[in-house]
Amino acid sequence: MEQYESVLKRLEKTAKEYTNIAPENGQFLSILIRSIHAQNVLEIGTSNGYSAIWIAEALKETGGKLTTLEFDPTRAAEAEAHLQETGLNNIVDVRIGNALDEIPKCDAIFDLVFLDAEKNEYRRYLELAMPNIRTGGLIVADDTVTMRDEMPDYIEFVFNTPQLHSVDVPLDDGIILSYKTGM
Ligand SMILES: C[S@@+](CC[C@H](N)C(=O)[O-])C[C@H]1O[C@@H](n2cnc3c(N)ncnc32)[C@H](O)[C@@H]1O
Repeated sequence: MEQYESVLKRLEKTAKEYTNIAPENGQFLSILIRSIHAQNVLEIGTSNGYSAIWIAEALKETGGKLTTLEFDPTRAAEAEAHLQETGLNNIVDVRIGNALDEIPKCDAIFDLVFLDAEKNEYRRYLELAMPNIRTGGLIVADDTVTMRDEMPDYIEFVFNTPQLHSVDVPLDDGIILSYKTGM
């Protein structure tokens, strides 16, 4: 077993406490990142770095970088420690701050954005990130079945904006996968 796999396995024991994604959602993100050969990924909501490890391991193959945003400094420090343990820390920039302030400061053009912080802010996160998502870029939003009633504005936006093609993916707590067109 590789080092990152043993760290993931250990973190899965505390997944509820840290509200981490399910392993299958990690695998889904990993497949998407490898498929589109992503160079820049933005994650909103780092927690202790579980999903960041899945994302960074895929980005190791594509030669890309992850920027991940977390406003709780204790969790961000835990994420840094776990990334260091896997040797993936040089691929990941963990930024401490409110995503609503940090997203506009990002100057990279993102191939994929993963939303996993406050559900009632998903639409604001996406609207802030939209100018920095490339045509053909992907947006993955987590918890879209179990917490759907907390994100009516996001649901309305991703299914009714002509620039986005969106689909519900019934993995674990639910994912909405959106594709940004050039329109
Ligand atoms: C569901 S957890 C993220 C889990 C992580 N993606 C994983 O699967 O390992 C959500 C995290 O978002 C953080 N968060 C919530 N609102 C935020 C905001 N406005 N800016 C930055 N981080 C935020 C919380 O502190 C929490 O650690």
